[in-house]
Amino acid sequence: MSLSVLGAIAPMPAPAFAAAAAAAAAAAAAAAAAPTTTPLTRRIPASGEAIPLVGLGTWITFNVGNDARARDACAEVVRAFFANGGRLIDSSPMYGSSQPVIGHALGKLGRLASLFSAEKVWTGDGARGAAQMEASRAHWGVPRFDLMQVHNLLAWEAHLPRLLAMKAEGRLRYVGITTSEGRRHGEVERIMKTQPIDFVQFTYNLVDREVEERLLPLAAERRIAVLANRPFREGELLRALQRHKLPGWAAELGCDGWAQAALKFIVSHPAVTCAIPATSQVAHVVQNLGAARGPMPDAALRARMAADVAALA
Ligand SMILES: NC(=O)c1ccc[n+]([C@@H]2O[C@H](COP(=O)([O-])OP(=O)(O)OC[C@H]3O[C@@H](n4cnc5c(N)ncnc54)[C@H](OP(=O)(O)O)[C@@H]3O)[C@@H](O)[C@H]2O)c1
Repeated sequence: MSLSVLGAIAPMPAPAFAAAAAAAAAAAAAAAAAPTTTPLTRRIPASGEAIPLVGLGTWITFNVGNDARARDACAEVVRAFFANGGRLIDSSPMYGSSQPVIGHALGKLGRLASLFSAEKVWTGDGARGAAQMEASRAHWGVPRFDLMQVHNLLAWEAHLPRLLAMKAEGRLRYVGITTSEGRRHGEVERIMKTQPIDFVQFTYNLVDREVEERLLPLAAERRIAVLANRPFREGELLRALQRHKLPGWAAELGCDGWAQAALKFIVSHPAVTCAIPATSQVAHVVQNLGAARGPMPDAALRARMAADVAALA
């Protein structure tokens, strides 16, 4: 095989509880400790800027409301994400409290020069787009967003001209569109062919591979960066695969489990710029960033990975 390298429980007594809490904190700190290698990156075609192959989604996982402990737990995920070389965080006004929770995390960590902020505009009323984006910016507490995407193509004809004008004025760095779960691919294709977008976001994973036919090749041809959403099918794919032993190729790729195998499959496609798994757990974000390190599968092995998983999942 050839590999290409591109990295009803009784209450606990108080002292025991304190010791357990300290041990848990130490374990979390160890898990989040900066690794010795930086993640592999891919360049955004429009600019040549390199970003790590794995980012962080925030749908559901960061929608924790006002609960202080839950918000702090999300902040620890963000801390571990940056400590392990992560940069791109993706959110949307659609994701409940996720935006203020990101802002809470960024506020605790201090201003992070390495942050690559990916947001969305999500309103059917074009006239409301500007106010919504400004509210999102205030939630994050950033001076401007790096990437603004039209969420699920909603009113894209109204939003896109504004986003392109904001980019021309230096108020955004990149403009994009999103879809998921195979929806409206014909329209996505038409926009990719006719509009000067920098990014496209759609679903791509070991079992949802329709985009290999047209959208991924088109992105490469049109020099559009690709964000791959739902890499684990909202966790369902991993739950199905975790019942099965890892195939031999996983060890050859340096994968510690199915999550890394699933991510390596996605980010080794040459047209993919970054996969954006969401997680609420420090150990998982460290694991996910680990998939942007070490050997990557070549085309022949990628085909075998997909065939093996199709037989299992
Ligand atoms: N139209 C759009 O624009 C659109 C649509 C869908 C998604 N998105 C973006 O894409 C992101 C990712 O998609 P998604 O949130 O639907 O689902 P996903 O990333 O495919 O799966 C998230 C689930 O996987 C679990 N998980 C993550 N890392 C894991 C690991 N290492 N081991 C085991 N389980 C793990 C998480 O549970 P734990 O919390 O326990 O880790 C969570 O339940 C979204 O958050 C959003 O930013 C955009």
